[in-house]
Amino acid sequence: MTLEDKIRLCEGQNFWETKPCPELGLPSIFMSDGPHGLRKQELSADHLGINESVPATCFPTAVTTANSWDPALLEEVGRAIAGEAARHGVGVVLGPGVNLKRNPLCGRNFEYFSEDPLLAGKLAAGLIRGMQGRGIAACAKHFACNSQEYRRFQSDSIIDERTLREMYLTAFEIAVKEGKPGTVMCAYNKINGTYASDNRELLTGILREEWGFEGLVMTDWAAMNDRVQGFKAGCDLSMPGGSGYMVEATRDAVKAGVLDEKDIDLSVSRVAAMVKNAQAALENREEVDEEAHHALARKAAEQGAVLLKNAGGILPLKEGQRLAVLGNMAEEMRYQGAGSSHVNPTRLSEAGKALSSTASVEDAEAVILLTGLPPAYESEGFDREHLRLPEEEIRLIEDTAKKNPRVIVVLFAGAPVEAPWADQVQAVLYMGLPGQAGGEALANLLFGRANPSGKLAETWPMRYEDCPSAKQYGSLDAVYSEGVFVGYRHYDSRGVAPRWPFGHGVSYTNFEVQGAFDEKGRVAVTVRNTGERAGAAVVQLYITPPKGSQNRPVKELKRFAKVFLEAGESQNLVFQLDERCFAVWDGGWKTPSGEYGVLVGEQPDSLSPVGAVQKTGLAVQLGAPWEALKAPVRPEARKGQFTMNSSVAEMMPHSLTMKFLHRGITKMLQKGAKPGTPEYRMMIESSVYSPLRSVAIASGMKAALFEGFLDIANGKRIQGLKKLLKARKA
Ligand code: BGC
Repeated sequence: MTLEDKIRLCEGQNFWETKPCPELGLPSIFMSDGPHGLRKQELSADHLGINESVPATCFPTAVTTANSWDPALLEEVGRAIAGEAARHGVGVVLGPGVNLKRNPLCGRNFEYFSEDPLLAGKLAAGLIRGMQGRGIAACAKHFACNSQEYRRFQSDSIIDERTLREMYLTAFEIAVKEGKPGTVMCAYNKINGTYASDNRELLTGILREEWGFEGLVMTDWAAMNDRVQGFKAGCDLSMPGGSGYMVEATRDAVKAGVLDEKDIDLSVSRVAAMVKNAQAALENREEVDEEAHHALARKAAEQGAVLLKNAGGILPLKEGQRLAVLGNMAEEMRYQGAGSSHVNPTRLSEAGKALSSTASVEDAEAVILLTGLPPAYESEGFDREHLRLPEEEIRLIEDTAKKNPRVIVVLFAGAPVEAPWADQVQAVLYMGLPGQAGGEALANLLFGRANPSGKLAETWPMRYEDCPSAKQYGSLDAVYSEGVFVGYRHYDSRGVAPRWPFGHGVSYTNFEVQGAFDEKGRVAVTVRNTGERAGAAVVQLYITPPKGSQNRPVKELKRFAKVFLEAGESQNLVFQLDERCFAVWDGGWKTPSGEYGVLVGEQPDSLSPVGAVQKTGLAVQLGAPWEALKAPVRPEARKGQFTMNSSVAEMMPHSLTMKFLHRGITKMLQKGAKPGTPEYRMMIESSVYSPLRSVAIASGMKAALFEGFLDIANGKRIQGLKKLLKARKA
């Protein structure tokens, strides 16, 4: 292979496929999203879930499966997704999303698991194991610190090392070490000034050398910044392909001795390994049992639903009760989110159809209010504007509660909402975005044919202002100045009462949990179902730091287990604690000396102490380095200084050409989607608000064309026109 052939092999052939390479005996292979079901596009391709994809089982999104706290369930779902992938000739599935939920406004939180790194990492590892058990490579994404959608292509995540290691990287570390994904996808954003695609410390130093990752790193779609830096960093594959982005510049860099050809060879070998793995996995394409996958989607939705409140035991309902069913989700239930994870379901069970309304609100023995966030409120590509339900839904809840004291609110949303109305209703059941079998799952839960066992994988605040990153979130650059105090670590440590805490969720039965140290120093736990129905408990184990510790959360989740128990049954569990359970990051993992507490329980408000663990480690002085973080100073966009990292929107006020380009792009987009829809907003964000290099890569057009426009915008008209003509000829 020539040098140029090798560089080209490290870019896709088109939107979804790798390039074939006869010299190495490699066919091209197909990749598809995603995290909760297959989105294989056979015709028009896009990375925002707009064009048609083949029918596939739409499992509940990560927000719901996370609330199951059950990695084994995720494994089952992963295996089913991989089976469908194999059936359709897809060798790499682009999921799971492992990013931590930093702030509930992030439009893409529905695709992520948790605010806690242990829970997120374990669940992601489960999904990966399931997919790869079927031979299909998974892809842990978006590495790293992609915790906002707002300007995700240009945003810089400013974060201190301790927070990065203890929180945001730990989730990936667990997913990589325990799941061993075949691939990892780097994020769009920068981390402390360096784009993820160019980040050697992240992609090689930490991912490969420290964690032992042996697979391939690909870019998020059009995330490649600089291919020369990318090869040096260990970013192997630039996706999508077609534009030939920086092929010549990379070749010249090798010739000039700036880039070592060995770095390219390494990436070539990783592409070859990924393709061969896919080839082997696709040899056996067993039939997909759609019925069984639908039933699994239903089970996952049941396991992930969280009963937030059940005053007076209003639930479960009795068969034959007079019900009134209303709310904005009664006609059209929201069961998944918009964007690259959007699945074309094999079928759909609507909540409204699964429940029959037999009377008026006033007469009903129970009112089921199916409500939630409409699609335009949360999506990939942009963040939410506030944490409230639509005004008319709030009014509907309040008015209904005045007419009938027996109201059950069922919420469909990809992330928390403010719930000031919660005290006015009897019960609240949170379904998240429950996938294609959501309606059946809901009916089973309401009538007690399934017993709710989900626990919140993220805190629900009383009001948005209570969130740890409320003040600093939503700017172009993300300053992680809340440090390690993310989610419950903040609420607990600062004494801020949430609406519903992390780990919360009630059941139709009761559990008793008792823990003690055994003779080997392990935590032995007995959990007993003391109620009259079968159900599942989630045993949670937290560590509390030594008294007087500075800048450490008052408790941190270190172990958990989901246990299924018949009425009256009990089970014994053993949790082994290791050094990492007590450690902090201080230039390395270190255990500060002192007496640590261990708490276990099934509900966050009734954890009981197991005892203390004495550590004679190091006297670590923990500071709060996050407090000093500042957003980088961004020079004002100025004619003459625009680069391929500038967006059309930034240049538009200074350049007539960019104004025309802006108008042309928006007109073209309006043919594909209606302004105001999430699809349109996503497309705008990915075009006029993304860097020119990303527009070139995503469109499969030569970067030279955009360089021509760039020169003109910078006032170098002749040079720009020449480039445009040359590019047109080519
Ligand atoms: C998303 C990725 C996705 C890719 C391909 C991007 O917009 O961020 O998660 O895998 O598109 O669809």
